[in-house]
Amino acid sequence: MARRRLQGLRVLLTGASSGIGFCMAKQLTRAGAEVLVTARRKDRLDRLVLQTQNHPGKLTAIEGDLTSQAHRVRLAKWCEVHWHGLDVLVNNAGAGAIGPFEQADTDRLRKVMEIDFFAPAELTRICIPLLKLGTRPAILNIGSVLAHRAVPNKSEYCAAKFALRGWAESIRVELSPLGIEVLMVSPSTTRSEFFDALVDTRLDTQSRSLGSMSAERVAELALKALVRSKRDRVLSLGGNALVAMGRWFPNMTDRILAWTLKPRNNSK
Ligand SMILES: NC(=O)c1ccc[n+]([C@@H]2O[C@H](COP(=O)([O-])OP(=O)(O)OC[C@H]3O[C@@H](n4cnc5c(N)ncnc54)[C@H](OP(=O)(O)O)[C@@H]3O)[C@@H](O)[C@H]2O)c1
Repeated sequence: MARRRLQGLRVLLTGASSGIGFCMAKQLTRAGAEVLVTARRKDRLDRLVLQTQNHPGKLTAIEGDLTSQAHRVRLAKWCEVHWHGLDVLVNNAGAGAIGPFEQADTDRLRKVMEIDFFAPAELTRICIPLLKLGTRPAILNIGSVLAHRAVPNKSEYCAAKFALRGWAESIRVELSPLGIEVLMVSPSTTRSEFFDALVDTRLDTQSRSLGSMSAERVAELALKALVRSKRDRVLSLGGNALVAMGRWFPNMTDRILAWTLKPRNNSK
């Protein structure tokens, strides 16, 4: 299949106030795309507008909470009025949570599912009529390695990202006759503000991971997957190793993951 051109592409990108989304927005406008970005922090979006004003593409920012249906409708309305359609929807906004499932209250599961699953799914539903009018339309979901292999102490986040991946797999086939592609990229640990914005998580909680990628690099790989229409990509070597190990040696993977928990349990 021919490569998708970023120049002139009309993109709605969520979660652009920091990390992967912030970098992706800059890379898109540098390549000449027209981008509508959103997030809750207006000061960060203003900074993005400033940093992209000399790029060949064009960036518009609308701040708001993506877990609100009114905000999601506002974004789609903007695309309808200004673009009369949409070429690419990037579902990037998200948040994690860390800690044992038993010790969290019921709110944490709901909050994580709201932003990581219901928000992208419902925004997509509203955008489908606009994507039908787009040029070689696509939905790019930012998943996670944890959408392929779950790990302990991140049960809510794993559940939400597994849900996102299952939903994407289903609508991929539904939307294919309409010419709308459904793509997914799954990063491993990425240096961003993700671990500063954990939902209902103790402040001293740390995530354990071997290595990390820059948000800039993840954004680059995500856009490469969009250009080349890659349906479901795990972006790191370590991530691919974890997924393969979990698939072929599930019990051994469980034992290794349980072992990584031990020092934390001992220090109680
Ligand atoms: N960092 C990692 O290790 C990692 C690994 C795998 C996958 N991912 C995925 O990558 C995506 C981007 O994360 P990141 O690493 O770039 O983290 P980040 O720097 O924390 O960025 C998250 C973005 O989502 C937005 N967001 C969060 N809640 C929102 C809400 N209720 N309404 C609107 N926007 C909201 C944030 O903006 P505001 O706070 O301004 O609203 C921010 O722009 C997420 O889907 C995440 O699950 C991250």
